[in-house]
Amino acid sequence: MDSKNKSSISCCILGAGAIGMIFAVYLKRIGMKVYVIHHRNMPRTVFEVQLRDSDLSGDYSFEIAAPENIMGTDFIVATTKATEVLNALEGMQDVLKNGSDVVILSNGMGFHEKAQEIYGSARIFAATTTEAAHISQPGIISHSATGRTVIGGISHKKSPNWLPIWLNAIPHSSWTQDIKAALWEKLAINCVINPLTASYKCRNGELIENPMLKELVKELCLEIEMVRDAANIPHTKEPIFDIVSQVIFDTTTNFSSMFQDVEAGRSTEIESITGYLVRVASQFKIEVPLNKKLLEKFREHCS
Ligand code: PAF
Repeated sequence: MDSKNKSSISCCILGAGAIGMIFAVYLKRIGMKVYVIHHRNMPRTVFEVQLRDSDLSGDYSFEIAAPENIMGTDFIVATTKATEVLNALEGMQDVLKNGSDVVILSNGMGFHEKAQEIYGSARIFAATTTEAAHISQPGIISHSATGRTVIGGISHKKSPNWLPIWLNAIPHSSWTQDIKAALWEKLAINCVINPLTASYKCRNGELIENPMLKELVKELCLEIEMVRDAANIPHTKEPIFDIVSQVIFDTTTNFSSMFQDVEAGRSTEIESITGYLVRVASQFKIEVPLNKKLLEKFREHCS
């Protein structure tokens, strides 16, 4: 890798949703070769997308990855829904058996360790981001906020040799030795913003602007804090309410991914977000009534 220049470094983006395409553009913009793997577009050779509302605004096209491109790639970034991560990786098992680097950039928890267990010879990394984007029309993505991105290894602490390129490409990004703490922080953000915006059919900002919703935000934050502390997850001194409020403020015009899923009649990531939290809560016998209520509501929606 040291002798390679940026244009000879390649990666594949698995899942061409809004966040996947934002990362694809970040990586392409520094000169990397970026392929897209997206089942719905497989018959095409090029995937075209327009980005709006940020300094990334413009038209972009990406080559759809052929099997030999995937084999030769330096790393794969899986940006599918939490519900699809393991299935999407299964479709690439031949590549993964040869030992590849995979960054899983999906909301929720519980599937990273499973992926590392299944694909022992691959190196699985997790990344978590507060970048916000949504598909405003087919082929058009609105990039509503530039967030922070943290990346770390699941079962190995050594950073990959392509890390400097990643850190150079992705704004406000950092490497952590303790990705679990970062995943928990993002889990807390998603446990609050996603089911509330999807239930009350609102943009993220309304969760703080509307006093009734702000009370629910506070209640959820307290429940999550109790579970996190019982599970002994390392964390910063900042209360979860302050962390969540900052993300709401930064992504005020965004429609959360769960809001978008519900509106589009798609299944939601509730099991990997609130479902994960409620399962940990029950292991430690912590009562989380509001989280449970939201979980049940979206389980009904899915059935
Ligand atoms: O899932 C989402 O929508 C995003 O993770 C976030 C950061 C909550 C912004 O909407």
